[in-house]
Amino acid sequence: MAIRPIVKWGHPVLHAPSAPVVEIDGSVAALVKDMVETMYAAPGIGLAAPQVAVPLRVIVIDLSVGKSARELIKLVNPEFVEKEGEQREEEGCLSVPGYGGAPARPTRVTVKGTDLDGKERVYTATELLARAFCHEIDHIDGLLFVDRLTPLKRDLLKRKLRKKAKAGDWEE
Ligand code: NI
Repeated sequence: MAIRPIVKWGHPVLHAPSAPVVEIDGSVAALVKDMVETMYAAPGIGLAAPQVAVPLRVIVIDLSVGKSARELIKLVNPEFVEKEGEQREEEGCLSVPGYGGAPARPTRVTVKGTDLDGKERVYTATELLARAFCHEIDHIDGLLFVDRLTPLKRDLLKRKLRKKAKAGDWEE
């Protein structure tokens, strides 16, 4: 297992849709292990494969950040089955460190995908977990929370991020 570098806003892999996983082979299993380790090390409650520069539809979420093993979700090719309601709560992103925003999210979602054995998994989530699913599925669709802010807030934040990216300030 290894902690992989997290790419930041402006990296092309974050701004394009990722490809579905066709076969869950050893490299996908290794990717997921590394993603979990990278998420815990950050620390964060979710991570999508493009954030470690791999353009595949794979996400991990753990609201307990490693404190409770049963809260760890590893999902391949996740997609929405249902979305309802609207909530706006502050969220952040490991690829946009130091900034936050409150994008519109559904209050309740049902998501399906497969686990690493290729078995179908279905989750129904509300509140923070619903937001986490939306945030991570956005990542594999090439969207960041920044893209879902109101136009005024989005443009303001993008100006700041462009400046930061240009100055090379993302490098850690
Ligand atoms: Ni994120």
